[in-house]
Amino acid sequence: MKKQKVQFPDDFWWGAATSGPQSEGWFNKRHENVMDYWYRVQRNDFFNGVGPDVASDFYHKYKEDFALMKQVGMNSFRTSIQWTRLIKDLETGEPDPEGVQFYKDVIAEAKKNGITLVMNLHHFDMPIELLEKYGGWESKHVVDLFAKFAKTAFECFGDDVRYWTTFNEPMVIPEAGYLYGFHYPKLIGKGKEAVQIIFNINLASAKAIETYRSMKLDGEIGIILNLTPAYPRSESKEDLEAARFADDFFNKAFLDPAVYGTFPPALVDLLKKDNVLWQTDEKELDTIKRNTVDFLGVNYYHPKRVKAPETKREGNWMPDWYFSEYDMPGKRMNPYRGWEIFPKAIYDIAKNVQNDYGNIKWFISENGMGVEGEEKYRDENGHIEDDYRIDFYEEHLAWLNKAMQEGSNCFGYQAWTAFDCWSWNNAYKNRYGFIAVDLNDQSRTIKKSGRWLKDVADNHGFEY
Ligand code: NOJ
Repeated sequence: MKKQKVQFPDDFWWGAATSGPQSEGWFNKRHENVMDYWYRVQRNDFFNGVGPDVASDFYHKYKEDFALMKQVGMNSFRTSIQWTRLIKDLETGEPDPEGVQFYKDVIAEAKKNGITLVMNLHHFDMPIELLEKYGGWESKHVVDLFAKFAKTAFECFGDDVRYWTTFNEPMVIPEAGYLYGFHYPKLIGKGKEAVQIIFNINLASAKAIETYRSMKLDGEIGIILNLTPAYPRSESKEDLEAARFADDFFNKAFLDPAVYGTFPPALVDLLKKDNVLWQTDEKELDTIKRNTVDFLGVNYYHPKRVKAPETKREGNWMPDWYFSEYDMPGKRMNPYRGWEIFPKAIYDIAKNVQNDYGNIKWFISENGMGVEGEEKYRDENGHIEDDYRIDFYEEHLAWLNKAMQEGSNCFGYQAWTAFDCWSWNNAYKNRYGFIAVDLNDQSRTIKKSGRWLKDVADNHGFEY
């Protein structure tokens, strides 16, 4: 078939995302967060016993890293300011001068390289002392402490950073920490707590947005959500209801408040009926209502394949009462990560945002392929030939482009990630970067996908 140019706008963002805790290292210089603590007490839960202490050493390597990103044609980059590094006194929000200096240097270096920064404020990195003392995101006091941290960040860097986001993948916090136990505090089946946390994080995001707007800074603020379209197994009433629930709970519980300042009514009714609805009052609901986002970041990796529930409604409340996931025959898998590869979902998300969320402006804030054992793909020159990653980017970008041709208001694509980085308890098991990091000496080498991305950025598209 004849190839066609998949053409993106000239001012489209090409870039990559990471987070402070996954890239910076140098963790003794800050407060301990939940992951550091988990690593300290249970090292064996981490792949090959590797923790966040060094990560990809962005703390010392950021100059080299920005230069490399520029070299591969990237014009944008997202990372996060760590609450535990910026703030000295977690109760008052007083900054730590060393933390301030580090982030100032990072911001200056990005600017020097012509790279637009998106600064995110929370990437799963709750300070452990706030979890132990107050219950972390279960506590409204912690919501206020987060707003103080946000204020300090805006005061220190608000003149130099134009794009802010409050949270990355907030759904992962209740889901992984309180429902299914794969992030610290590793709790399982804490449905009521998870529901309260969903509310509290929405409130924390709204309070940070309110603070930002009150400071009249010249910039924009949004949120980064992991959206997982829920495709029903069949058109049966039961399967359709299950898919609707999965969408309401895992997507819209953050998407609706972010864009409209309200929660999905069907979800609220259901949680009320089951006696697990969050505690709140009119004032808090009003704060959420008034402080919606300027833009959305969407992380997309895989969809959910959903059918009617198999779980009996007994014991603590769980989302599993309303939906089950099933193993769709013939689904295409990433063999290394156990995640389905379904590029069309990126188009479905784009159309959904266009049609149901007022065509708000948005960008892909994460998309990428994690691969185990990439060393075996090194050629004789020491370069990793990751053609599978190029195929992955190509297919997703082609679907994204189709949605944009049809009017979707998407302004950028940031891959996860530029430099191989530490991925929580998976540590360095799956490599996602288009630039390889050798953990023995922290040296970087551009992979074939990095060179491919440079061509795409330079030509504003590719032949497909
Ligand atoms: C999404 C998360 O934001 C990031 O922290 C994680 O490493 C990637 N997914 C890959 O799993």
